[in-house]
Amino acid sequence: MCHGAAARACHVRYPFFPACGAGPGTGLGSIQSRRTPVRRAKISIIGAGNVGATCAHWAAAKELGDIVLVDIPDRVGVAQGKALDLAQCGPIERFDANITGTSDYKDTANSDVVVITAGMPRKPGMSRDDLIGVNVKIVKDVTEQVAKHSPNAILIVVSNPLDAMVYTAWKVSGFPTHRILGQAGALDVARFRTFLAMKLGCSIEDISSLLLGGHGDDMVPLPRFTSVAGIPIDQLLSQADITECVERAKVGGGEIVKLMGTSAYYAPASGTIQMVEAIVKDKKRIVPCAAYCEDEYGVSPGQKGKGYFVGVPVVLGSKGMEKVVPIKMTGDESKLMAESVSHVKDLVATVQKMFPELA
Ligand code: NAI
Ligand code: 2OP
Repeated sequence: MCHGAAARACHVRYPFFPACGAGPGTGLGSIQSRRTPVRRAKISIIGAGNVGATCAHWAAAKELGDIVLVDIPDRVGVAQGKALDLAQCGPIERFDANITGTSDYKDTANSDVVVITAGMPRKPGMSRDDLIGVNVKIVKDVTEQVAKHSPNAILIVVSNPLDAMVYTAWKVSGFPTHRILGQAGALDVARFRTFLAMKLGCSIEDISSLLLGGHGDDMVPLPRFTSVAGIPIDQLLSQADITECVERAKVGGGEIVKLMGTSAYYAPASGTIQMVEAIVKDKKRIVPCAAYCEDEYGVSPGQKGKGYFVGVPVVLGSKGMEKVVPIKMTGDESKLMAESVSHVKDLVATVQKMFPELA
């Protein structure tokens, strides 16, 4: 029996518990008969490898919705096993989520958000661009299935080379550009912030920063838009120390590939789920993402329908990419951004040459 405050709390939250007076057998009946005004978000993650499974982990831990983890038929056991293993954390970590492992896209039907991590990761000595041939084919196949079963989903592409894969997913899905995003900036700026916190010996929480451009070694961390508890970074660190952090962030992915023999997954998944959370909770967060730009940031001025997906700060909410946020850059910053955008355009040109149907 519940008494006093506990009884009131019990009654308010769990009126169907027999111990609180609802009577035997009425419990589940009253849950089922209650009208459900909202439903959980449905998040499908394609690729149950390192990044995909870790995305599922963060999404479950943050209780963002029901999760479907998809892999190829040969690896359906891996998807199912990881889904079951993760579901068994629920009682300990206290999250409610249905977690399904599958190779059947019917299980992903009507997802709200689909994260595409399917594809090969790079090995030591490889650049992200070396993955283009094999991963375009994979992302193309996956996107066809995703678009067929979840025509209203917001897609977040993670597979590399990121900027070319987002383009591929856009071309194949035919989705409006506000429902296509690539994850890179959330990770890259987190790396930059981590290196600054290490250098300063201060809390990572206080460091705010911004980063633009493609997901290559020519990405553009922006020290002028970086502060620590509101204090501009150049009042706390020397130019040499700032440059060291910028350069380390730019090759941050390669540093981990050299150490592990495969690419990173904790922080990439964390960055991805930051985006998913902003969308399913309609948070209107400003996060650097690969988003479609034409006039924005001078990517393809005046060229309707001929834009590119490049890393820019965007407002993320329930509609996906709700706005590209413009910033005023110096001449040097604009030059670095233009170089990075030109690399993205080269990558897309390679995709178009190898796969003319995607031009
Ligand atoms: P992984 O090898 O651990 O996992 C990839 C998974 O994709 C495997 O389970 C594989 O069976 C699956 N897969 C392959 N073809 C598929 C298909 N047609 N349908 C469904 N699943 C399929 O690789 P990891 O480390 O998870 O990396 C995945 C991708 O993410 C790589 O391309 C990697 O370069 C990229 N990546 C991107 C980052 C970013 O910031 N954008 C950061 C880290 C990785
Ligand atoms: C990373 O930046 C390889 O894109 C992957 O870790």
